[in-house]
Amino acid sequence: MKITLNVNGKSTTIDADDAQMPLLYALRDNLGLHGPRFGCGLGQCGACTVHVDGNAVRSCLMPVGAAAGKKVVTLEGLGTPGKPHPLQAAFIEEQAVQCGYCINGIIMQAAALLETNKKPSDDQIKAALAGNLCRCGTHLRIVRAIKRASGTVA
Ligand code: FES
Ligand code: FES
Repeated sequence: MKITLNVNGKSTTIDADDAQMPLLYALRDNLGLHGPRFGCGLGQCGACTVHVDGNAVRSCLMPVGAAAGKKVVTLEGLGTPGKPHPLQAAFIEEQAVQCGYCINGIIMQAAALLETNKKPSDDQIKAALAGNLCRCGTHLRIVRAIKRASGTVA
């Protein structure tokens, strides 16, 4: 079946065998967008997070059919190497990435947070990211990068 998606501001039609296929698979396999990662596939790690109509969503759980007609934004749509999103620039500035596997989800979750709370406190950042698992050790830098992006770090 044909499913039309709006991804990163562009309308695109994919062929899918099943409208219940996870949106994550369509993004990665059909559209070649490898920002969103497959971690657990169960909604438990956050590595696959994208924005759907402005909300942070676990794309491993959302059926691709449910995303039709909605605005999907992936890490690739947040910014570009030449014009990065403030969060992307701040993560580089703070060197807040170790292996990087979780970082797509953390940046997308943090971007959704900053849309509703421009200057979150440390506790608000930690609460917003509580469902994004990182097995490495840059947690303090991640919080600092989000604060940098929000303009609360010198
Ligand atoms: S891969 Fe989606 S939450 Fe883990
Ligand atoms: S940087 Fe490695 S899992 Fe988070």
